[in-house]
Amino acid sequence: MSAQPYVLILYYSRQGATRAMAERIAAGVESLRGIEARLRTVPPVSPTCEAVDPEIPAEGAIHADLDDLRNCAGLALGSPTRFGNMAAPLKYFIDTTSELWLGGALVDRPATAFTSTSSLHGGQETTLISMLLPLLHHGMVYAGLPYSEVELTRTQSGGTPYGASHVAGTRSDRPLDDHERQLAFAQGQRLARLALTLQQAGENA
Ligand SMILES: Cc1cc2nc3c(=O)[nH]c(=O)nc-3n(C[C@H](O)[C@H](O)[C@H](O)COP(=O)(O)O)c2cc1C
Repeated sequence: MSAQPYVLILYYSRQGATRAMAERIAAGVESLRGIEARLRTVPPVSPTCEAVDPEIPAEGAIHADLDDLRNCAGLALGSPTRFGNMAAPLKYFIDTTSELWLGGALVDRPATAFTSTSSLHGGQETTLISMLLPLLHHGMVYAGLPYSEVELTRTQSGGTPYGASHVAGTRSDRPLDDHERQLAFAQGQRLARLALTLQQAGENA
């Protein structure tokens, strides 16, 4: 385990919207002292066998490995919405985590999820819930966004109690607005706070 505890922000993003959210969540995590954000992504998958992706992508975060997950103090899982569900590359990576599940490696660690869609009612909540399921199987403690974050009642775009979200528009050119940015930041901050608290509780148990 690295000396400083970290929140793993593990996401897949094709057009950059989920990545922009991941970076805001990271800013929220790093607004706390004593914990850092570790941004990681997963390679795309394809129904046909193509060349294996380089270990270090041309841009953005590097690819996650199981140790990134094993040693994290908290986890934020991000995916674009695909037909109301998480994207296959992220699911593919999660399906490689049986070894961690068997050993109970992630039990009692806090986790959250975030997503981006092209349309307002395009399935953000169902996607977030689809991401929650494997986290519960791993024994993680799911933290959404509480309504004490006032932007939740004010937003006309993304932001749900199940986790932060963003409406990127049909051309994927709509940047995060102020409410979406604030909610993603708050989600990172809350996750970092819970990660530190639960880690300390585990050490004192
Ligand atoms: C195969 C596929 C399925 C999609 N399904 C949905 C959907 O169910 N609802 C929606 O609003 N957008 C859907 N989208 C659009 C993406 O969710 C949206 O463009 C998202 O912001 C992309 O995130 P990214 O920029 O991180 O890749 C879909 C896109 C693809 C490629």
